[in-house]
Amino acid sequence: MNWGMKNRISRIIKPKSGRCVMLAVDHGYFQGPTTGLANLGKTVEPLLPYADALMITRGAIRNWIDPAVDIPIILRVSGGQSILKELSNEIITTNIEDAIRINASAITCSVYVGGEYEKETIDNLSKLVDEGEKYGIPVLAVTAVGKDMARDSRYLGLASRICVEIGAHIIKTYYTEEFEKVVEACGNVPVVIAGGKKLPEMEALQMSHDAISSGAVGVDMGRNIFQSDNPVGMIQAVRAIVHESKSVDEAYEIYEGSKK
Ligand code: R5P
Repeated sequence: MNWGMKNRISRIIKPKSGRCVMLAVDHGYFQGPTTGLANLGKTVEPLLPYADALMITRGAIRNWIDPAVDIPIILRVSGGQSILKELSNEIITTNIEDAIRINASAITCSVYVGGEYEKETIDNLSKLVDEGEKYGIPVLAVTAVGKDMARDSRYLGLASRICVEIGAHIIKTYYTEEFEKVVEACGNVPVVIAGGKKLPEMEALQMSHDAISSGAVGVDMGRNIFQSDNPVGMIQAVRAIVHESKSVDEAYEIYEGSKK
């Protein structure tokens, strides 16, 4: 791996802990103005001091994020579908030159293993990896799941491993029981979990804790942070689990305590 690639990864996955808290706010690319992100800038601004990286599209970054901000950007460069149609029907929406102009620390696309457009989404990933390797920009592959697809360790291990074999530098997948099998399937490639739909805060913290205990290097979490009744407390609590190995109860106290 070249110097630039290593440097960009170490901006995202902090060398001190070997872990990371990514804040995902790219939902609008197929969900439109998701609850909590209609005014993306207002939601994100108080959370930025606690996030190690921001996952976002180029349109959202130019509209709502101050270019003076000091946070690594994971640029969502795939899209082309909506919640009204087949989710796996993605194309690459942003070229590598624009990712470089934005000063992206990583680029990202979704891969729908088992989905109708499985091959096309794997093709998207392979092209991004080729471009990323050329310019030293790591690629984070999201193992996206269609509406009716299983989320067990067998499926997620299969999907994640395919992304590793194609050359992804970081894998984002969903937490499931026996998550250590998914991590094992990824070899030396770091794995982070998505939060998924909004859960009660205690459950989201437990899931983060279980993922870290099973070998994930962190989270790439969206709705369970910005749709919380206390988003700043929630990201601080997740951070305490990820970077300081705090227990779920300790983290929950951080979430509750910051409400006062
Ligand atoms: C999914 O493909 C997108 O990257 C989502 O924005 C991301 O997975 C969302 O994170 P969460 O599921 O924690 O809201």
